[in-house]
Amino acid sequence: MSGLRLSAVAISLLVSQSAFSAQFDFSDKLSQTDALVLFQSENEKASLSFLDKDTRAQLEKALATEAFTGTFGKMVDVLAPVDSKYSRIVMVGLGNNEDLNASTMTKLGGNLHAYLESKKVNTAALSLDAIEHLANHAELSAQLAHGINLRDHTFDVYKKTENTPIVSYHFDVKNANETKSQYAKLEHIQKGVFLARDLTSEIATRMTPVDFAKAAKELESLGVTVTILEPEQLIELGMGALEAVGRGSKEGARLVVAHYKGNDSTPIALVGKGITFDSGGYNIKTGESISRMKSDMAGAAAALGTVKAMALSKADVNVVAVMGMAANMVSQTSFAPGDVLRTAEGLTVEVLNTDAEGRLVLSDAMWYARKHFQPEIMVDIATLTGSKVRALGDRYAGIFSQDDTLVNELTLAGKRVNENVWRLPLGYKDMLKSDIADLKNIGSGGPGATTAASFLEHFAGDTRWVHLDIAGNALSSSAKDEVPAGGTGFGVRLLSDWLLQSKN
Ligand code: BES
Ligand code: MN
Ligand code: ZN
Repeated sequence: MSGLRLSAVAISLLVSQSAFSAQFDFSDKLSQTDALVLFQSENEKASLSFLDKDTRAQLEKALATEAFTGTFGKMVDVLAPVDSKYSRIVMVGLGNNEDLNASTMTKLGGNLHAYLESKKVNTAALSLDAIEHLANHAELSAQLAHGINLRDHTFDVYKKTENTPIVSYHFDVKNANETKSQYAKLEHIQKGVFLARDLTSEIATRMTPVDFAKAAKELESLGVTVTILEPEQLIELGMGALEAVGRGSKEGARLVVAHYKGNDSTPIALVGKGITFDSGGYNIKTGESISRMKSDMAGAAAALGTVKAMALSKADVNVVAVMGMAANMVSQTSFAPGDVLRTAEGLTVEVLNTDAEGRLVLSDAMWYARKHFQPEIMVDIATLTGSKVRALGDRYAGIFSQDDTLVNELTLAGKRVNENVWRLPLGYKDMLKSDIADLKNIGSGGPGATTAASFLEHFAGDTRWVHLDIAGNALSSSAKDEVPAGGTGFGVRLLSDWLLQSKN
């Protein structure tokens, strides 16, 4: 137990956290706190010899009673004997050492935090002895902290303040400095995730295209160049599809561009769907799902959150987010079914359904991204179709591309960060033929997620392009692992990991 080894220097620099989140400090010394958290893998029994006799006996009895073998995620919680310096001891199963990675540690952190919060624990000392012999122990510990903090960030602004405990964590790790620097990297990504989550969770009347543009402007302090185009400029540039979808609300549409230029290479464009509320328009949504449509800007939020993460990381990447923002509302000025819109690409679109609005705003945003940035790769991210939700549910996002390399890279990135993607086909372009225009905005039944993707393909030109359909992934109704209920920030960790790992 390194905590009992008298260490020369106890590093206890507090990693900066906002007032309402979990507190961390990494050191090589075990602090005295109300809860002690120990870990054991299936490979090796934890050494408990540092505990006083009574505490140890109590814990050993509980572990035996529960037949604890270190199964991943299993927790045995023991209330400590009266003379113990701890209030409780929680033994956490790590599973097999070989299966420990970013994905599993992050999940474990999320579940541990939820558990400690439910037990009203205020301070916890985590002893990571069980993994200190592994080569990547610092990364694993940092990922555990990442999972804790990801689970901790909830959107509570509309709640009467409850006294949910703020858990302060003391990590007893072998190499505190290395763990701290690994965690600092993840913290940048975290902040991008939190931005995306907060933008998504915010109610639609307070997160209009103009509100979103203001939030984007705040990234200027990080060296991000932010450009905002207003409806008149959209019309001037010929972006008739984006402009039309925004026409039903007073303030109209916006194109928001946020560029982090970390190097001089050809940029990567992230194109986000930013429908701040999707009523369906004249094809109004009739089901209960309409009440979740504040989250229809989650693609834009993920694109912006990723740019924030890259800027904070001072990453060696050139990435630009292009976000088509509009509220799809019903009003006298709304676009109507049967309208024909002219996109900036030059293709005209017959609107057979005003509820298929995401592909309309994306078509012009994709055109803008190509025209102004000539990107090497363009990834669009959008809560695009109910069809995707029916096909894949909320555990996978849909990925569409002709580019196998990009699909592979993003699939691997998704596995590393628990934001999984599953490939669905393109094709069925012929289903989008219109009698009056170049395209119609819906297919005729069948594979809705694919016809939506095929619509977008018309606007990718010859740029390497990937479409991510994150419908169903953006707003969660219950907490799971490292993701609390509410806006999930889905896509920020996926895209950040991909940018950092594949594009550096
Ligand atoms: N924003 C919705 C898609 C959606 C559905 C997102 C469920 C999140 C959860 C999108 O704009 C939409 O309404 N799509 C329609 C398209 C249809 C009219 C062709 C759909 O999928 O039903
Ligand atoms: Mn819609
Ligand atoms: Zn929509």
